[in-house]
Amino acid sequence: MSNADKEIEDSAAQGEAREEASASEAAGDSESSEITRRKLFERGAVTVGGLAGAAVGLPAIGFALGPVFKAAEVRYSSVGPVDQYNSDTYTTKVITVVGGIGEVGKTTVYIRKNNPEIDPAKVGEFIVISTRCTHLGCPVRYVEAAKSFVCPCHTSVFDLEGFVITGPAVRPLDRFDTKVEGGELLVGPRFSVNDQLDRFNPRAPGEPLHGGWKYLYPRSFSTAPFN
Ligand code: FES
Repeated sequence: MSNADKEIEDSAAQGEAREEASASEAAGDSESSEITRRKLFERGAVTVGGLAGAAVGLPAIGFALGPVFKAAEVRYSSVGPVDQYNSDTYTTKVITVVGGIGEVGKTTVYIRKNNPEIDPAKVGEFIVISTRCTHLGCPVRYVEAAKSFVCPCHTSVFDLEGFVITGPAVRPLDRFDTKVEGGELLVGPRFSVNDQLDRFNPRAPGEPLHGGWKYLYPRSFSTAPFN
């Protein structure tokens, strides 16, 4: 083969190599642009899916959690003339704590006048004790002979003022706010008390109030504030 023929052959080979490289580059560009487009579509789909999920889910979550943050109405029920109550023993009454739901919204309470020999002035002129045991919520019953409240479920016993004599109840019996209007006693929202009879917004059964426990179990938003 002459030198001229060899040069022609080399030149042709180089041209082919350049064409192949250029074709391969073009194929790479096309593939990379395909991947970018795919990623864009994927991200768009995820975003649209997320927005659709939020549109469906958020109202449902709001509907479910709404009652948790909606405080119960503050209501006062009349329990008759104040002169029917004395400071020696309790009188049983039924009051409505949640209106519009019939018997389910009613509860039994025990009422007596403040006895200055045992009750501090700060607790008010009338004492209205809740029948809900502070262990797990069973209804307690006042036993006049023992001057005590007794729980039938796990035998907690509370004294005349509602203090725990024997557990497993974790705090004194809850009480209800009162006011007098036109000679009638009105019973309002329930509140919880600690061992010093300081008032707290109502706690659930099983939630202690002594020491740091009061911070561990904050007030439930669904209960009516007592003041
Ligand atoms: S519910 Fe009253 S002692 Fe358990």
